[in-house]
Order: sequence, then C-alpha cells, then structure tokens
Amino acid sequence: MSIPTQWTPTHGDPYRPVPYRPERMPTEESLARAAELRERMGRRRTVRQFSPDPVPEQVVKDAIACAATAPSGAHQQPWTFVLVKDAEVRRRIRAAAEEEERVSYDGRLGEEWLAALRPLGTDEGKPHLTDAPALIVVFQQRYWLGEGGDKRKHYYVDESVGIAVGMPLSALHLSGLAALVHTPSPMRFLSEVLGRPVNEKAFAVIPVGYPAADCRVPDLVRKSLDQALVEV
Ligand SMILES: Cc1cc2nc3c(=O)[nH]c(=O)nc-3n(C[C@H](O)[C@H](O)[C@H](O)COP(=O)(O)O)c2cc1C
Repeated sequence: MSIPTQWTPTHGDPYRPVPYRPERMPTEESLARAAELRERMGRRRTVRQFSPDPVPEQVVKDAIACAATAPSGAHQQPWTFVLVKDAEVRRRIRAAAEEEERVSYDGRLGEEWLAALRPLGTDEGKPHLTDAPALIVVFQQRYWLGEGGDKRKHYYVDESVGIAVGMPLSALHLSGLAALVHTPSPMRFLSEVLGRPVNEKAFAVIPVGYPAADCRVPDLVRKSLDQALVEV
C-alpha cells in the first residue's frame, strides 16, 4: 500500500489502525535528555528587540513543520501558518498593529490589563514587526471550508492551535533563533493584509530572528516546579 504524502480530510473514514512501536529509550538516556532539555528550555526568553540580520529560512520552515506535527482535536489540524518575509507586507502589518495598539494602550485595555502588562515594559510601538526578518502569522481555521463552499465544524480549535504554537517556539529556541508571541487585539487586519479566507481567524504573529545586540528582556521570575506542579 502506498503511503499518501499529502493530507486530505478523513471525515467519516473507517478506523484503520497501524502498528506503532517506537524504540524504548534506556532510562539513563531519558533522564539525561530530559535534564538537558529542561535546562535549555529554561534559557528561552521572549525577545522584543530583533536584529535585522537574515535567518536561515530552512530553520524557520522546519520549526513550522514541527508545529504541523502537533496533536489536534479529531486530527482536524485547524491551522495555517503564513510565513511573511516581504518587507512591505511586514511594514503594513506593523502600521496596522500599531494603530490598534495605540487605541489599546490609550485605554481600551482597561487599568487591570495595563497593570498586568506594566512589568513587561511593552507599549504601542511594535518595531519587532519590521526589524525581525520573518513573521509567522498563525491562523486558526474555525471550520473546514471545502472548495464548493461546504463547511464542517472543527473541534477544540483554540486548544489545538495553542499547542501547535508552542512547538515552533521550542524548535526555534533550540535551533538558535529568538521569537515573540505577539497578539495585537483585535487582529482582523491580519486577514485583510494577508488575504486569508473567511474560515480563518488570526491567532498570533510570531516575529522570528536574532536578538538585537542591545536586546534587553524584563527581569521575570518563573514559577518553580513546586509552584507549578501538584502531585496526587
Ligand atoms: C498567548 C500569548 C500572548 C502574548 N502576547 C504578547 C503580546 O501581544 N506582546 C508581547 O510583547 N508579548 C506577548 N506575549 C509574550 C509574553 O509576555 C511572555 O511570554 C511572558 O512575559 C513571559 O516571558 P518569557 O516568554 O520571556 O518567559 C504573549 C505570550 C503568549 C503566550
């Protein structure tokens, strides 16, 4: 039987189990890998000041390919990743984002939200959208839209796309690049600028690049494992 290389929706197909026998890793190796990964992931930081230096495009595409391995509700893979390299398109995204963010920081967010953001030092200026050489704009497909216009509901879209976004963030960091999850609110302008179909809703913009030489990040403390973990 030939293995298809292109996905097509499996809606209504019968259950077709195939063997899955990944080799079991020796415990010592497992422990060593987990400890190393924990240490390396602990060094990831959100970067808001990027160098305009180009990045190896394949690293970004491999990170997006990692995102596309994510689990998803009913395996509906309700995502599209738009890789924006074109400087003019990035400029338009920045202009539209800053227009929205100006209104947000001028009061739309409300005092409680602004107080939550204060330790991060963010404001309406979004230079990362043009300084970073690449943007990954993530769209969630609220429903499946066939070529003939028929629609099918997608399940657990927020959860699926949220998990999918975590994977390239890790992949980029472990491959030596920096990223930021930027969620301008509202984000409708992204559909317009990028000409996305009506079943897609923007989820986040992820600028990718190398940190600027003078990059600074907020001095944040993460929850310790004790604080994040409850064992029963
Ligand atoms: C869902 C989500 C939305 C975010 N939105 C923004 C944003 O719009 N602008 C921004 O500067 N950072 C944004 N961030 C980045 C967070 O502020 C950052 O992850 C957090 O402060 C922790 O910092 P760290 O990633 O360096 O550990 C977002 C992160 C997530 C997960």
